[in-house]
Amino acid sequence: MLVRFAALLATLATPALFAPIASSPLPPSQDPWYTTPSGFEAASPGAVLRLRSAPGNITAIFNASSAAYNLLYRTMDSKYEPSWAVTTLLVPKHTNGSALLSYQIPYNSVDIDAVPSYALYDPAFSGTPPIYTDIQTALSLGWYVNIPDFETHTASFGVGVTEGHATLDSVRAVLDTGFDLAANARYALWGYSGGSIASEWAAELQAQYAPELSFAGAAIGGTVPNTSTILTQAAGQWWAGLFPEGLLGLTAEYPAARAYLLSQLKTTGPFNRTGFLVAENVGVEEAFAVYANQPVFEYFVNGYESLLDPVLQDILDNNGYMGYHGIPQMPLYVYKAAQDEIAPIEGVDELVSKYCSVGVNIVYERNTIGGHLAEEINGDARALRFLQAVLGGVYNHTGCTVRNVAVNITDSPM
Ligand SMILES: *[C@@H]1O[C@H](CO)[C@@H](O)[C@H](O)[C@H]1NC(C)=O
Ligand SMILES: *[C@@H]1O[C@H](CO)[C@@H](O)[C@H](O)[C@H]1NC(C)=O
Ligand SMILES: *[C@@H]1O[C@H](CO)[C@@H](O)[C@H](O)[C@H]1NC(C)=O
Ligand SMILES: *[C@@H]1O[C@H](CO)[C@@H](O)[C@H](O)[C@H]1NC(C)=O
Ligand SMILES: *[C@@H]1O[C@H](CO)[C@@H](O)[C@H](O)[C@H]1NC(C)=O
Ligand SMILES: *[C@@H]1O[C@H](CO)[C@@H](O)[C@H](O)[C@H]1NC(C)=O
Ligand SMILES: *[C@@H]1O[C@H](CO)[C@@H](O)[C@H](O)[C@H]1NC(C)=O
Repeated sequence: MLVRFAALLATLATPALFAPIASSPLPPSQDPWYTTPSGFEAASPGAVLRLRSAPGNITAIFNASSAAYNLLYRTMDSKYEPSWAVTTLLVPKHTNGSALLSYQIPYNSVDIDAVPSYALYDPAFSGTPPIYTDIQTALSLGWYVNIPDFETHTASFGVGVTEGHATLDSVRAVLDTGFDLAANARYALWGYSGGSIASEWAAELQAQYAPELSFAGAAIGGTVPNTSTILTQAAGQWWAGLFPEGLLGLTAEYPAARAYLLSQLKTTGPFNRTGFLVAENVGVEEAFAVYANQPVFEYFVNGYESLLDPVLQDILDNNGYMGYHGIPQMPLYVYKAAQDEIAPIEGVDELVSKYCSVGVNIVYERNTIGGHLAEEINGDARALRFLQAVLGGVYNHTGCTVRNVAVNITDSPM
């Protein structure tokens, strides 16, 4: 693969495609690198359209990496139309090229400047536990780390098909380029919460969309099997910011639904269109702060009823429910807090039971302690152990194992 990488770098070393390395990163909304070359539609899904050394000091931030790249690659949106996305690849300092981790970060925002390829430079984002330690640990283990902006350039937060495609195509883009990865390198997926959406959809879409790929495993935590539950239960919650972000994300590739959504927003009063659209320009932490505890149905002229229109429900039918697009072919490690207050555990129980009934290799651990945020920390070391086993080629679990655990690593009340 070394030869192919060198050849690709040479091919791309033209002023049009290989932009000079900027000393500091520009927000994607202002960076001309975040555009496609003309004719990109003709390229195959996963084809690299642009490649650069990642700008700025990302290898100083993630100091277990020796090099970092941005790849802009062809993918397919939720309607299977040509689309594109960007991923960041970190190369470990010490490695034999045997493993690649695709790490899907829950960035949960439709702000195009909140994507990981840019936000990773912000310590407030990359330092949010456990993002920093996960990436550094993976690099220290000698794993390459792929971090896709899986909502793609359309900012389709929560659109399962788009996010699954973009995740799979980011792995294709990295493997096809090579980057000195071994020809038989193992690769696996990891994602929590919003990252579980991209990771699980990638796992279930893989057999039909990217049949040539063979993942060693997928660790999926804080799983969100049913996006509707987020929308219907967000009102009054500390995490209500996921409501405007989710509705803007779900309608990003559906102009008629977006027009309907906007038509349902009140124009006056405390919960109006202007306030709702603040979500377009904030990252997830700020969205949580702005909308905390708001009665979010109040933004709509018909309240909750506004959500029930078929133009929105159709998007959810195609992109909002895990377990209908294929059977994961790789071992899964699924972890979830029994008291998860954002996405109820019952949906994950059902999803796992469905997969078990068709022979998927699963370990599912239900943590009796903690809520959604706590489980990201509580489950982290166990997910990492699973990934070490599958990426090391020593994972030997078969069949379906469901068990309760009581793991209390963080004292976070949620
Ligand atoms: C990376 O650059 C940013 C912005 O210039 C700076 O705030 C940060 O301290 C740098 N980090 C490292 C590890 O060099
Ligand atoms: C990497 O950064 C961490 C945290 O800033 C620091 O403790 C560690 O010494 C650094 N390692 C190297 C190899 O520079
Ligand atoms: C590569 O490194 C991994 C992790 O350190 C190790 O398990 C594996 O045996 C090594 N492979 C080769 C071919 O040396
Ligand atoms: C998803 O959640 C909604 C709202 O709670 C519920 O009405 C629906 O039946 C669920 N759908 C699936 C496929 O589980
Ligand atoms: C819209 O809501 C904002 C608060 O989000 C408020 O400041 C503003 O006055 C409202 N606009 C109208 C026209 O009521
Ligand atoms: C499976 O792997 C575990 C841990 O790596 C090991 O303790 C156990 O003996 C293995 N079981 C079999 C049947 O190989
Ligand atoms: C979890 O550990 C914390 C201390 O870190 C403790 O305060 C808390 O009671 C424990 N929770 C449970 C359910 O054991």
